[in-house]
Amino acid sequence: MSVMRTKSIEQTIREGDEPEYQLKKRLTALDLTVFGVGVVIGAGIFTVAGRAASELAGPAVIISFIVAAICCALAALCYAEFASSIPVSGSAYTFSYASLGELVAWIIGWDLLLELLLGASVVAQGWSAYLGIFLDHLGITIPESVAYGSSFDLPAFLLVLALTVLVSVGIKESLRVNMALVALKIFIVLFVIFAGLSYIKTSNYSPFIPPSLPSKSGSTMEQPLVEALFGFAPSAFGISGIFAAASLVFFAYIGFDVVATTAEEAKNPARDLPRGILGSLVICTVLYCATALVLTGMVKYDQLDKAGSLAGAFEQVGKPGYATLISAGAVAGLTTVVMTLLIGSSRVVFAMSRDWLLPSGLGKVNRRTGTPLKITIGLGLLVAIVAAVTPVGKLEFMINIGTLTAFFLVSIAVPVLRKRRPDFERPFRVPFSPWLPWLSAAICAYLMFTLPVETWIRFVIWMALGFLIYFVYGYRRSRLAGEAREGEVPSMTST
Ligand code: ALA
Repeated sequence: MSVMRTKSIEQTIREGDEPEYQLKKRLTALDLTVFGVGVVIGAGIFTVAGRAASELAGPAVIISFIVAAICCALAALCYAEFASSIPVSGSAYTFSYASLGELVAWIIGWDLLLELLLGASVVAQGWSAYLGIFLDHLGITIPESVAYGSSFDLPAFLLVLALTVLVSVGIKESLRVNMALVALKIFIVLFVIFAGLSYIKTSNYSPFIPPSLPSKSGSTMEQPLVEALFGFAPSAFGISGIFAAASLVFFAYIGFDVVATTAEEAKNPARDLPRGILGSLVICTVLYCATALVLTGMVKYDQLDKAGSLAGAFEQVGKPGYATLISAGAVAGLTTVVMTLLIGSSRVVFAMSRDWLLPSGLGKVNRRTGTPLKITIGLGLLVAIVAAVTPVGKLEFMINIGTLTAFFLVSIAVPVLRKRRPDFERPFRVPFSPWLPWLSAAICAYLMFTLPVETWIRFVIWMALGFLIYFVYGYRRSRLAGEAREGEVPSMTST
């Protein structure tokens, strides 16, 4: 038995057709794009962008958005090749099981869980913050003991519970709600861009790249790993600040990969998945760059509000009514993000339990709803509790490191799979392979090194826990291992 054992693509697709594990195939390209935009535009632009500009990059945060977009676009092409040729639930996890082997697949699945579960929790907290702002504008105050930032964030908790129920009743129903909320969210972002244009003062763009300064905390733990390794003093702004901000605003793009987790539910995955993935990414990049430009033009970067910067900017230019509208839009917008992350996480656990790397009973699909009910409810409860009791903090970096690791491995997997299975049909092919996938892997690795030292330490702990679970449970119990023991030769590609 080897940790490098791979599952053949044919076997992966065949298992997806087993009746008790089968998901309904009913999503179109438009559904997938809405799904993508629904999860991508969220706390990243509503809160993180302002913080990145005020603490790390200044007006040059627009360059950070472009750097992060390039990284995501390259990874998206790699995702699209996989998702169109292996249209099975589980995204990067499933792709790597077919190319790099079981251990790498497990690592990716474990990283995706980090991304999706913590992502849902963080965005639920952001939702609660904006709800507080919105209600405040209406003259209603949430009791401090259960509000955003308290020891039990009740609004975040209730939001996740309500969304769990919605997701449990069936993905199509939830998508219909999603579609309306996504339209509203795009309207709000466009509103910020167009309403903000007339308040831009060009003097706010100068200096465009603020000169490098010693960082306020001066702590090595908060310093990018790459600087700590080379013995630089902790600093903010300057050119390195642009890259540090890129690794933070990367959070704003997270989610387009979640489109790939629903591959099995797409009607025509070969055509629609690449469209859904790349389409959502292009829409979001344009909106983000425009928003970043307007925001840093309206208010001097060092005076930006760090929590609700989009609403705050309008208050600062004397338009509190606009701020109320924007906070209402943020409440609606962040709802769809939490919901989509919940769906994505349940599909990753679903794929892992179908391979028996996690208990197989978890992955059974409920006949009536057509969704993996047990997993959805279990993860929903977990996210609700994490969102309610975890202090608001640096979880974004943890999410980013998990996602970048998955992107890195998926990028490497493209040339590997082409070499191992040149015969396999690829309805969508990454251009300039292997150069483009390698470039993608290199950019992901670079951004990971610009993440803070403390993030790396937490990530190493999370990975150690993952290895422990794999070697104690999955390594012996996995479906591939079982088939090998019983003497049936599972279809394996050479390793
Ligand atoms: N990209 C998502 C957001 O910005 C996670 O909230």
